[in-house]
Formats: sequence, C-alpha cells, structure tokens
Amino acid sequence: MHRIYFDHAATTATDPLVVEAMLPYFTEKWGNPSSLHAFGQEAHAAMDEGRKRVAALVGAKPDEMVFTAGGSEADNLAIKGVAMAAGKGHIITSSIEHPAVLNTCKYLEARGFEATYLPVDKEGIVSPQDVAEAIRKDTILITVMHSSNEIGALEPIEEIGKMASERGITFHTDAVQSVGKMPLDPRKMGAALVSMASHKIYGPKGIGALYVPKGMRIEPLMHGGGHERGLRSSTENVPGIVGFGKAAELALARMDTDIPRIQKMRDRIIDGILGSVPDAYLNGPRARRLPNNAHFRFSFIEGESLLLMLDMAGIAASTGSACSSKSLKASHVLLAIGLSPQEAHGSLRITLGRGNTDDEVKYFLEECPRVVESLRKMSPLGR
Ligand SMILES: Cc1ncc(COP(=O)(O)O)c(C=O)c1O
Repeated sequence: MHRIYFDHAATTATDPLVVEAMLPYFTEKWGNPSSLHAFGQEAHAAMDEGRKRVAALVGAKPDEMVFTAGGSEADNLAIKGVAMAAGKGHIITSSIEHPAVLNTCKYLEARGFEATYLPVDKEGIVSPQDVAEAIRKDTILITVMHSSNEIGALEPIEEIGKMASERGITFHTDAVQSVGKMPLDPRKMGAALVSMASHKIYGPKGIGALYVPKGMRIEPLMHGGGHERGLRSSTENVPGIVGFGKAAELALARMDTDIPRIQKMRDRIIDGILGSVPDAYLNGPRARRLPNNAHFRFSFIEGESLLLMLDMAGIAASTGSACSSKSLKASHVLLAIGLSPQEAHGSLRITLGRGNTDDEVKYFLEECPRVVESLRKMSPLGR
C-alpha cells in the first residue's frame, strides 16, 4: 500500500541530498573542530559552511547562530538564558506555546520568576495590545511563538518584537514551524532570539539552533570548554551541522517553488473538507496560517478514532502536536481558542510537505469524508 505522510509538523524525512552531504563526516572527515591539525580544520571548515547556510535562513551573520540539540534546547537556552542573566523578573508568553516554552516558564516560576500566560482569540492569535498591557517594570522577556505547531496560526511577531525592543525588553520567538516556509528576518522583530530545528526542514533530528544577536547577554545552560561563543559547550555535532546546513540551503533554494505548491494543496484540502463534510470546521485562521497546515474539527467523532481509521487507509495525520497526541488530554491550544474538551477531541491536523502530490490530496479528499461518515454512524456521541 502507498503510504501518505501528512504529518510534516511532527517531523520530515531527511532529504537524500542532506544524507549524502553528511555521510563523509561520519566516516572520512571525523575530526574534532577544536583540533588544530588537518582533521580538525577540515571538520571546522565544514561546520563554518553549515553555520553560514543556517544563518542565511534568517538573514543572520554566521557567528550569531548557536547550535543546539534541537528546537526544545534552543527554547530552553533562550528563556533560561535570559532569566539567569537577569536573576529575577517577569516573563510574558502566550497560552498556546509549545511545551518546550510553557514548561520552561513553569520551571522558572517555581524558582522565583513570575510569568503571564496571555490568552489568544478564537483563531489562536495573540493580541499585541494584551502584550502591551501585560508589560511591567520588571518584565525581562517576552516569548511568543512565530507560528502555532498545532493550528498553524501566524502570530503578529513583528509588532510584538518591535514593542519589546522599544521598551528594552528581550524578545524570543519559537520559529521552529516557520523556518524554511517563509522569509524570516529577526531584525524586523526587534532583534529577537529565534529558535529553529533541523528535522522540520528535511534535515537530521537532534540538531537545532538559536539565533543570538551580537551583544545580547544570555547565560549558557551547558558549561564546559566554551564552544559556540561560550553558550553551548560540547564537541560540535559536525555531521548534524553539515546536514542542517544542506537542509537550510535546499529550503531557501526551493521556497519559491515548494511553498506555493504546498499552499495550493492545503487550500484544496480545506475547501474540499469544508465543502463535503457536514459539521466540519477549520481550527485556526483561514488565511493567516502556515502554508502547509490544515486543522479540522469534526462534530460527533473522536479525532483518535479518525486518526486510526485514516492510518488503516494509509494516511498518516495527527490529532494535535506530536508530543500531546499520545495522551488523551485535550490540547491546551484547542482549549485556549475556546473549544470544549469534547470539541477539541474531534480534531485532525494535516501538515503537508515537499513530497506530497495532488493525487495524494485527491485520495485523502475521498477517504476522509467516507471515514468521518462511517465513524459518525457508529458514534456514541450522537448527532
Ligand atoms: C513550535 C515547536 N517548538 C519546539 C519544538 C521542539 O523541537 P525539537 O523536537 O527539535 O526539540 C517543536 C517540535 O515539534 C515545535 O513544533
């Protein structure tokens, strides 16, 4: 059976060109970039090239990128790094952040910091006005995600970032889902700290980066030999950096062709489902959303059953974020946009990627209404 992968927000397949670029750095060019001999220099040069390519994703200078072991570590480094440098104070975030941000804020709250979790509107958008009203004299950090990994909402990041910078408050944005899908410029966001992860853009897992503008003082999480401007000690993951670099290069080169094609398929899916399935709704905004995200709510059925039936039909989707889909707790994001726990449980997330085709979309548009209909016939939730 041809299996269709519609879960690119969870992770993506590593591009064969990325694997090809990485391979020599396991077997032939395995030096430690800190070593002064030729082996080390060879690895160092590859790392420099990778850094340059990743920096280009956000139009940054290569030495402003700090490599981490993924998006979660980048978020932790940004938030704890600012908090530890300040010693005390108040943090503003939103109620729809990824757990890597929310749980880091909660961790800091348990250690004497204070945090405000801003509500969002029914489409999942944070109001810049709410941010302005939440700012206090002791606010040290505002952290709001660039786009929602669940419902795809694009947040007013430039407005919030500018406001933070005008008031001398550090701004961080988790751009893990946006990077590679749209041009990003941290300078337009008030010189923000920006988190990203390689495995969402067809790069390897276990490598991410935090953009740390020159002159910004943050404390490291990891102490040691002083790698990565002293912000992330540990021998660098050279194959990972090379792979992330290649993935970044491909993402930039293909953005103008891949993204409009993906967005067209997304729109076909949204129009197709809303047009053919009764009592189906779109979660998140219609236009102001990630180009690859379609997130639906179907009355009278459970998203978990829908997911399993679609999986049996060869379609891999998600009920929410990868990390929450194993638990039966309603998604905090769906609750934050005002859905009841029961409504939240009837949700399905489709996230498209480079490898998807029009034929796959067509098959999904035939299968999904059929599966929803048959589940509703069996449903104890009633109609
Ligand atoms: C918005 C967002 N932030 C952070 C992360 C965590 O990234 P990683 O799995 O690389 O730690 C994810 C992954 O799903 C994400 O979607």
